[in-house]
Order: sequence, then structure tokens, then C-alpha cells
Amino acid sequence: MKGIVFTELLAMAEQAVGEAVVDAVLDEAELSSGGVFTAVGSYPCSDLMAIVGGLCPHTGMSVEALQRAFGGWMLRYFVAHYPGVFAGKPGPLEMLESVDGEIHVEVRKLYPDAELPRFRTARRGAGELQMIYTSARPLTAFCHGLIEACVAHYGMAVEVRCTPRPPDGAVFDIRLER
Ligand code: HEM
Repeated sequence: MKGIVFTELLAMAEQAVGEAVVDAVLDEAELSSGGVFTAVGSYPCSDLMAIVGGLCPHTGMSVEALQRAFGGWMLRYFVAHYPGVFAGKPGPLEMLESVDGEIHVEVRKLYPDAELPRFRTARRGAGELQMIYTSARPLTAFCHGLIEACVAHYGMAVEVRCTPRPPDGAVFDIRLER
């Protein structure tokens, strides 16, 4: 998993609980990387899960809620750093439809070792999109947060229903609200 995911998780955590708590969590977690992360490095996803697990008691959030909040944080990071990607799409559903076939394809060109999920998408009606998420990593709630924040970025309200699809993913039913 790319280092940027770790450095942004730690940035969000520092804002929420402060640097001292984050340092203590990193010290206590059993991390194969030793607890030092750079944006350009790559680290195992198990380290991300260990940090999230260690942060939970300090935030009062469940693993799921924290992952989902982090998805929102990460989407806003993408908007800030790659505004053209979002501006180039007419709306949130077009943006979400392009993640698998365009955006993550570009990510893969830049970072051949990136661990990316797969998505299959289908329109279900006006303002409705189904995304079938497949990943070897347990990041469904993170994905949920990315999707919600992506719609919010376009100034729209949304209902996202998430149905787990064991063993490796989930179905997201996304309905824009008028
Ligand atoms: C400018 C937009 C985007 C960029 C640049 C981007 C890039 C990335 C990068 C660099 C990673 C980490 C890869 C790794 O750790 O090895 C990632 C992971 C991920 N991305 Fe994107 N992404 C974008 C938008 C989105 C959107 C809108 C979604 C929402 C569906 C999404 C879903 C995910 C998920 C769920 C993961 C975690 C990996 C997994 O689930 O297995 N991404 N993305």
C-alpha cells in the first residue's frame, strides 16, 4: 500500500487526537515497517489496519467509522491535489464510473506496485449507480467514505447502501437525492 495512504491517515489522526497520541499508537502497534512512513514508500496493508485499530480507542470510533471518515479525508486530499480529474467529469456518477477504467489505470502507470481494488459499475436508473467493489484488502468502509465524499464534492446529497459480498468485497448502491 502506497505511503501516501499512511501519511494521510496519520495527518487526519494528528488533527483529531494530537501528535503525542499518534506517536504512542505507532509505538504500541506491531508494525512490520517500524512506524516510519514516507509518502513515496510502500508498506503492508496490515500496518494500516494495525494503526486504525490502535487509534480507535482514542477516538471513540469503531474501526468501520474510522475507515469511513478516512475515506472522506482521502477523497478531499485527491480533490486538493488532482482537481482536474474531478473538474473533467460532469457529475459524481460519471466520476465514480471512471475510477476503475481511467483513474486507477493512471495510478497503476505511475505506481506499478499500487494495490488497487476493482470496480464493476451499472446504472440502475436516473441518478442511481451500482458499484461492485472487489479487493483483497478489508477496506470496504474506506471505500464507502470515498464514495460519499465524492458525491458531496459535487454538492449533492446521496444515499449509499453497502451490502458486504464475502469474501472479498461489497456492493454499493448509490442513489443521488434531489
Ligand atoms: C483523483 C482521484 C483518485 C486517485 C488519484 C486515486 C488513487 C489511489 C491510490 C494511490 C490508492 C492507493 C494504492 C495503494 O495503496 O497501493 C488508491 C486506493 C483506493 N482507491 Fe483510489 N484514487 C482516486 C479516486 C478514488 C475514488 C473516487 C474511489 C471511490 C470509489 C477510489 C477507491 C479506492 C479504494 C477503495 C482504494 C483502496 C484499495 C483497496 O480497496 O483495495 N479511488 N486510490
